Amino acid sequence: MFCIEVENVSKSYGQKLALNSVSFRIPCGEKWCLLGPNGAGKTTTLKLLVGLLKPDSGIIRVGGYDPTSQEARALLGYLPEDATPYLTLSVRENLEYIGALRQVENLTHRVDEIIDYLGLNEFEKSKVGTLSRGNRQKLAIALAVLHRPKILLLDEPLNYLDIPTQERVVSLFRSMQDTTFLVSTHIMSIAQRLTNSAIVLVQGRVVWSGSIPELRAMGSEDEPIESVVARLMTGG
Ligand SMILES: Nc1ncnc2c1ncn2[C@@H]1O[C@H](COP(=O)(O)OP(=O)(O)OP(=O)(O)O)[C@@H](O)[C@H]1O
Ligand SMILES: [Mg+2]
Repeated sequence: MFCIEVENVSKSYGQKLALNSVSFRIPCGEKWCLLGPNGAGKTTTLKLLVGLLKPDSGIIRVGGYDPTSQEARALLGYLPEDATPYLTLSVRENLEYIGALRQVENLTHRVDEIIDYLGLNEFEKSKVGTLSRGNRQKLAIALAVLHRPKILLLDEPLNYLDIPTQERVVSLFRSMQDTTFLVSTHIMSIAQRLTNSAIVLVQGRVVWSGSIPELRAMGSEDEPIESVVARLMTGG
């Protein structure tokens, strides 16, 4: 069973072709990363999967459903690239509001748990607009995982986070063993810790996909994985 299916998907913004007949499938429960240079189409791919954009052509299925359906929305969690929670609500209010919309059970307990886990206690009554960028990112992560999604789409998840928080967030994601992950990142250490397989996008096309050990094996013995990936991305 595939939880994410993308078949011959193309997407343009005006004249700009952002995705050019992209296809890939991710089996349920697997952890994949989406790699590619700036402007390759990673964020566009994730936005299509959450139904924020519609493809010009091709088919997308999330948990077997159209991404804009109620069924798909219930399965999905999404951390946008530049997440902006409700700035005039407090941290707790954001979590309680989104949690209520998501019909999270034992919501107060779940909100307490996630505030504690991400170390947001000090800020729970602060308006989000007054938070530092990193603390806002912690809230965005909390909002993405609050309802324990079956399918989690993360766009640069560790951006802005301090190192101890990066470690906590990595543990949090790694504890979600049954969840299907697709993670866009430029940081290969994060890709390797969070995922087992990779899709490499260049100029809107999939140029490579496979397991991370296969990716590493494409380089010479002491070659860093970043150098292998850079070669794939530049066609060198
Ligand atoms: N709203 C938009 N209007 C016009 N062009 C856009 C828009 N959003 C993205 N693009 C273009 O589509 C292409 C893919 O962009 P996208 O944001 O998906 O790339 P990305 O792989 O996420 O890049 P990055 O690593 O910089 O985040 C780029 O050429 C970008 O300029
Ligand atoms: Mg992006």
